[in-house]
Amino acid sequence: MPAAAAAGQNQRTYPHVAAEQTGRGGVYSGMTPPVLDQETSRVPSFNYAGFDERPFLVFWEITRACALACQHCRAEAQPQRHPDELDRAEAARLIRQLAELQPPMLILTGGDPLMRSDALDLVREAAAAGLHVGLSPSATARLMNADFAQIKAAGVERISLSLDGATRATHDAFRGVAGTFDRTIAAVHRAHASDLSVQINTTLTRGNLREYEAFKQLMFELKPAMWSVFLLVPTGRAGIQDLPAPQDIERVFQDMASLVGRAPFAVKTTEGHHFRRVLVQSLGARAGKQRPGMRSPLGIRDGRGVMFISHTGVVSPSGFLPFDCGNVRDEHPADIYRHHPLFVSLRDNDALGGKCGRCEFRAVCGGSRARAYGMTGDPFAEDPACEYQPQ
Ligand SMILES: C[S@@+](CC[C@H](N)C(=O)[O-])C[C@H]1O[C@@H](n2cnc3c(N)ncnc32)[C@H](O)[C@@H]1O
Ligand code: SF4
Repeated sequence: MPAAAAAGQNQRTYPHVAAEQTGRGGVYSGMTPPVLDQETSRVPSFNYAGFDERPFLVFWEITRACALACQHCRAEAQPQRHPDELDRAEAARLIRQLAELQPPMLILTGGDPLMRSDALDLVREAAAAGLHVGLSPSATARLMNADFAQIKAAGVERISLSLDGATRATHDAFRGVAGTFDRTIAAVHRAHASDLSVQINTTLTRGNLREYEAFKQLMFELKPAMWSVFLLVPTGRAGIQDLPAPQDIERVFQDMASLVGRAPFAVKTTEGHHFRRVLVQSLGARAGKQRPGMRSPLGIRDGRGVMFISHTGVVSPSGFLPFDCGNVRDEHPADIYRHHPLFVSLRDNDALGGKCGRCEFRAVCGGSRARAYGMTGDPFAEDPACEYQPQ
């Protein structure tokens, strides 16, 4: 069993460190991940050298401030900006460093990124430095007052908006602020009107799973470029009791697989990597070809193609796996991504424990490392949300 839930998170050992001590292999195979590129939107296709070299997705939480109060918020967002956020000069330096790292996609997230008054300046700078930028604002009055054409002109290639309740009542209860559902729908329409590519994020929980059919119906009406279904991670304000049962998740993932290639939007999951196993099982060899809009490499997961930078510059394998692996104030993010022992170990499929370690689908899936950590204290444990029993 690799690096179990030992003491405090900064005293942990990781499988690669343990591997050297035990003589066990533990070196990532180095296989170049296939990049699937059937995107029909304007977002350009990318050349991607591989997980060891650079993250595919960098999430930068430019502020943790947010006017919403979501029940499940991983960031435990607060109404006020933190005094120790990266300042303008530090942000500019980080953008230069990220331009050197060349991730195919940089997502400016939060909290609510629009709570930083310089958010669009950061977008402009990042786009000018050659980065492809996405923006994940919260559906507040601030977004309603924004000029979507200006957001697009600044260089945002895709905006992502969250819908976690399929009705006004359930979404507003989930997000903690009345009017959020209506603002979200309005924002989708305004993005379409400005020809700004839209992604809709839906976080599935035990409480909203019964609305799955209604969510699906909404997607057919709203026609985002991408529907990204997040599977709850017990971290921040989210608890273990909020996670749906594995068999219910399986049924939903099977239905989502039936949308692929048929729906007018692309479908992917976030922290629900076993959707890829379901896809391969249901579509077989056609799984890759039939995933329109799916540009991320198979096998991407926390620390393995994903890097997260917090509002104060702390680097983690993802926003849902809150390990402090260093700070961009002191180290180049490329060095942290490439060399920090936790990142290195998370890229190693042989470091996985439990049934994920035995699973024939681990190279395309590998389970949510964040959920494993949130529920067991061990980021290498099996993903408790997956009902599959490896053959
Ligand atoms: C962290 S938010 C930031 C952007 C913006 N504030 C928003 O709400 O869309 C990005 C996405 O993460 C999701 N999320 C937050 N906490 C989560 C958790 N504990 N598990 C799974 N998804 C979560 C949100 O629902 C949202 O879709
Ligand atoms: S057992 Fe683990 S690796 Fe296999 S499909 Fe389930 S989550 Fe993925």
